[in-house]
Amino acid sequence: MIRKLIRNAHFFTPVDNGGPLAGNFQGRVASLEHGAMLIRDGLIERIGTEPDMLTDIDSGRIDEEVDCMGKCVIPGFVDPHTHMCFAARREAEFGLRLKGTSYLDILKAGGGILSSVNAVRKTSEEGLLEATLENALSALRFGTTTLEIKSGYGLNTETELKMLSVIDRVRRLTPLDVVATFMGAHAVPEEYRKAPEDYVDLLINEMIPAVSRQGIARYCDVFCEAGVFSVNQSRRILSAAHSAGFGLKIHADEVHDMGAAGLAAELRAVSAEHLLAASHANIVCMAKSGTIAVLLPGTAYSLQKPYARARDMIAAGVPVAIATDCNPGSCFTESMPFVFGLSVMNMGLTPEEALTAATLNAAYSIGMADRVGSLDPGKQADFLILDGGSPAILAYHAGVLPVEAVFKKGERMNTKRNTR
Ligand code: NIG
Ligand code: FE
Repeated sequence: MIRKLIRNAHFFTPVDNGGPLAGNFQGRVASLEHGAMLIRDGLIERIGTEPDMLTDIDSGRIDEEVDCMGKCVIPGFVDPHTHMCFAARREAEFGLRLKGTSYLDILKAGGGILSSVNAVRKTSEEGLLEATLENALSALRFGTTTLEIKSGYGLNTETELKMLSVIDRVRRLTPLDVVATFMGAHAVPEEYRKAPEDYVDLLINEMIPAVSRQGIARYCDVFCEAGVFSVNQSRRILSAAHSAGFGLKIHADEVHDMGAAGLAAELRAVSAEHLLAASHANIVCMAKSGTIAVLLPGTAYSLQKPYARARDMIAAGVPVAIATDCNPGSCFTESMPFVFGLSVMNMGLTPEEALTAATLNAAYSIGMADRVGSLDPGKQADFLILDGGSPAILAYHAGVLPVEAVFKKGERMNTKRNTR
């Protein structure tokens, strides 16, 4: 048994009452000054004020002490939406978008997601693993301790299974907790361009059963968008995934209002993601069904679009989470501090609301809240020491890394570049 004492900390943690925080509770963050936390074998045993804790702890039984010098300590970030398993960057496409070509026009012309599909199909599993590890370890340096990664650059059974196997190997090879999502419905591959319904049939009859047998993915996600998958196709795919035991997610109303947020509510999806163009009526439906809004402000930044209406969602009672969307096309960042800053400055979240969004609500959106997302006894000791006095430092000290130390299951991570 190893016991560690984290002391002289100013803890900020969302309050976990057994569900994601919504409405007036979105920013329900406990602040505990002069705090101490006792860790036993990587799990939080107790957390409280230092004088209270020290009176009952026998210091002879502490293996290691960490003095936080009064700085702000928060739960490790949970990034619940990434596509960081990819083989090649798309910098030239970024250049085209800056000159005015739209994201969906690039996809229509066989670029975008489809160019990533060509790269992933050509790359060996080992090569893909190397590239994905690099992204995941970069995220860890920026304070992400739990991560979701989607497949969706294979678009045939063999390559989707290869991607999911890589995602599982990232889980085993790094200290991160990694949750895998199957996203074979990320685009219609070139070979089915003339018969998209046949691809939907392939997803339902072959791919979903194969992914289920493989046993790695927990969720199934669909890109419900004009020119990609319609609401009816998305409903068919997600219903099949639900019957096969997957949790449901939807890339909903990212560019156009398709009514996909309403579909997420109808299917009781755990989350609807993006929502830049979601209608108010469907936001209200999401509040009723308890569907979490996973917002990706880095994508609005990178696509130069208006941000999701986070304040309306919070006012309607929808629990809000935030994520990077890390991918080589619509948003290339693995930095949760960057996304945190955008949420506060451009979506109007308070720092406390953004903290809940980046930790506890994010953990609920990928089924990990029993283990991570807040500093509560029984959960893993995943936490960050920030170079500041409150979570606001993440928005205030912009464009740099205000994360001074990253701890995963009580272990301090080496956050220097090019080290593993
Ligand atoms: O979340 N919208 C679809 N999928 C990703 C982008 C993937 C890509 O461009 O490679 C997104 O924006
Ligand atoms: Fe995405």
